Amino acid sequence: MAMQLLFPTRIYQARLSARGWRALNARLLRECRQLRADDRVGRRWSAGNYPGGYTSYSSAHRMHALSPTFAALSRQLDRHVQRFARALQFDLRGRQLLMTDCWVNIMGAGAAHAWHLHPLATISGTYYVQIPPGAPGLKFEDPRLERFMAAPPRQSTARRENRPWASVSAQAGALVLFESWLRHAVAVNTRAAERVSISFNYNWF
Ligand SMILES: [Fe+2]
Repeated sequence: MAMQLLFPTRIYQARLSARGWRALNARLLRECRQLRADDRVGRRWSAGNYPGGYTSYSSAHRMHALSPTFAALSRQLDRHVQRFARALQFDLRGRQLLMTDCWVNIMGAGAAHAWHLHPLATISGTYYVQIPPGAPGLKFEDPRLERFMAAPPRQSTARRENRPWASVSAQAGALVLFESWLRHAVAVNTRAAERVSISFNYNWF
């Protein structure tokens, strides 16, 4: 008997190099909070679209081009994205995979992030700045789900790769990368403390 496992959906997880990530996160956290304080347009947008939270997605989404601190983060992320692209065996000849967007998410108590994907991008991801103990990770959905129709449900004890949803935990100093078409969500932050992350897109030019 032979069983082949085809068409994998890859999720890349890594930590920033041990040297200096705490200091970088302290600076990022200060700048994320300062941005929220300064960004009236973003706060108004978040009030309507991101209850209980703040995101600069609609107002300041190129932070890597505005802040040397975010630029330093982006240089580290570049290396991980290249590694992920090699694992996916992308043929990137003739064009470059570059960061196009980089924005701040601050989830207060009760904030959640509904299912979505990232249009107009190739690889997306999140870097975690501050994660209270017990705060939610990132949940992914099987991209074939809409084709399952009459497929039976999976056993409650099914292996992780056979389940229609899977979560990866969030940890300060860690990053998660995925292909931008993969739907994902963040469950409600039930902790009193703020969950702070930086999301980003890379596109192939
Ligand atoms: Fe996202």
